[in-house]
Amino acid sequence: MEKKDLLYEGKAKKVYRTDDPEVLYIAYKDDATAFNGLKKGTISGKGIINNQMSNRLMQYLESKGIPTHLIEECNERDTLVKRVDIVPLEVIIRNIAAGSFSKRYGVEEGTVFAEPTIEISYKNDALGDPLLNAYHAVAMGLATWDEIETIKSYAFAVNKHLSAFWKTCGVTLVDFKLEFGKLSDGSIVLADEISPDTCRLWDTETKEKLDKDRFRRDLGGVEDAYAEVMKRLEEHLQQ
Ligand code: C5P
Repeated sequence: MEKKDLLYEGKAKKVYRTDDPEVLYIAYKDDATAFNGLKKGTISGKGIINNQMSNRLMQYLESKGIPTHLIEECNERDTLVKRVDIVPLEVIIRNIAAGSFSKRYGVEEGTVFAEPTIEISYKNDALGDPLLNAYHAVAMGLATWDEIETIKSYAFAVNKHLSAFWKTCGVTLVDFKLEFGKLSDGSIVLADEISPDTCRLWDTETKEKLDKDRFRRDLGGVEDAYAEVMKRLEEHLQQ
């Protein structure tokens, strides 16, 4: 299926129409942003890794019964997905304290939680994606209670399956952000991407950061870190 006109350009991806109104064409970019767009840069080859990693992980989640927007990979940077109406919520699951959680609650980075935790933010760049609770989301008409329950149960299931997957790669899944969309029949599917841009991935032995925190915090070795997690994922899938 061919890409048609550009529908939307985001921070990390371009989205094009196709011949089929229910199918979109996603092209992953190497552009990197952080802190709500305040920090900008390029991570060479990131678009290829994020496209391929996200697709492998979504295929894996599909095999575990979690519906996703994935249709098929077109080439190393581009993928066909089902058109969804994005639910304007960013859903974050955390297994270990880091990032904004550590800052907000004064919990030392690396503290392992008694059990995984979830938070939702209002997906709104102009407002800086503020945290909200389910009552806010329902009051604002962003989602129904049923949709929120479905999203929560998918998000925890994703965490269970991806934590186990990454463990076999010697990688600890610290936290991650998911986005969900609604198909034309109203059903909820996992959308957006799952990649080192949207997950914190630490080497289990050394605790080395293998994700976008290397870019956010100017730690260097960003490209190598992305390549390393991709290599481990592929090695695991080949076994
Ligand atoms: O910054 P914070 O600690 O809230 O991020 C939690 C997780 O969500 C991290 O894995 C981060 O990469 C991801 N995230 C994201 N997009 C955002 C905010 C957070 O992918 N806009």
